[in-house]
Amino acid sequence: AFYGDSFIDINDKVVPIDERGHQFGDGVYEYVKVYNGTPFLLDEHLERLEKSALNILLQLPYSRQEIKDFIQEGLRRSGLQNSDIYIQVTRGISPRNHLFPTNVPAQFAMTIRSGKVVPNEQRKQGISVMILEDERWANCFIKSLNLLPNLLAKQKAFEHGHGEAILSRDGYITEGSSSNVFAVKDGVLYTTPATNRILHGITRAAVIECASKLNIPFKEYDMSEDFLRHADEVFITSTSVEVLPVSKVESITLPDERPITTALAQAYSELYATN
Ligand code: PDD
Repeated sequence: AFYGDSFIDINDKVVPIDERGHQFGDGVYEYVKVYNGTPFLLDEHLERLEKSALNILLQLPYSRQEIKDFIQEGLRRSGLQNSDIYIQVTRGISPRNHLFPTNVPAQFAMTIRSGKVVPNEQRKQGISVMILEDERWANCFIKSLNLLPNLLAKQKAFEHGHGEAILSRDGYITEGSSSNVFAVKDGVLYTTPATNRILHGITRAAVIECASKLNIPFKEYDMSEDFLRHADEVFITSTSVEVLPVSKVESITLPDERPITTALAQAYSELYATN
């Protein structure tokens, strides 16, 4: 792990009481997957980190190149070929006060852990999802540390036996609690428009590119809850789950055949295999 300006043991106790990250969730983060020693779509993730920081008026303490150097050094130290990198930047350490501290540097932290993989069985079968009210704020395109509504939704879905919570605002699907949502209807691929209501997923963008290469018709579209329930195929995307089929929307079982999901999952895995 890395905290502030140096590498530390991942189990070290280092975060001061007055760190704004845990007092206020005053910070932003990224989650990057490493395949065969190379972080996948790293520039896209770091660009989004820069955009998130800019939008909460936070100045990153390191340049993109410095962050890349820390990542390389971290990967070398970890000895891992396939890993998950978590990066967070907070507004630093200062006695608790809602106002921004002055002349306090932002605090950079990073962990590198062995890569989590979705069990093959689950990947083949698909997961079940539950639709829940999107109770988040108006700027979901910012990858902010404030994840309480996401956690509450994910936990509730899990307690009802589902693998992901699909959030809905004013009757329209926004995204998953930690993923983006796609549906296929009559051969057309749909996903929620990239507005302030959702995180502009890096995997989402890569999958849209795969669809274009495969000549799959694609539309950004505000999907109603019923549109999702009656779709031919539904899948979620994220850095960690990649392209993961949805087999059930609450009590409704979706068709077993998922030609487009399968083709896109395959295309995405070829992308990172040639990373
Ligand atoms: N989550 N939407 C939300 C709310 C997310 O938290 C995530 C990612 C995504 C997918 O974004 P991407 O394809 O860039 O990973 C969409 C990460 C993995 C996390 O919270 O750990």
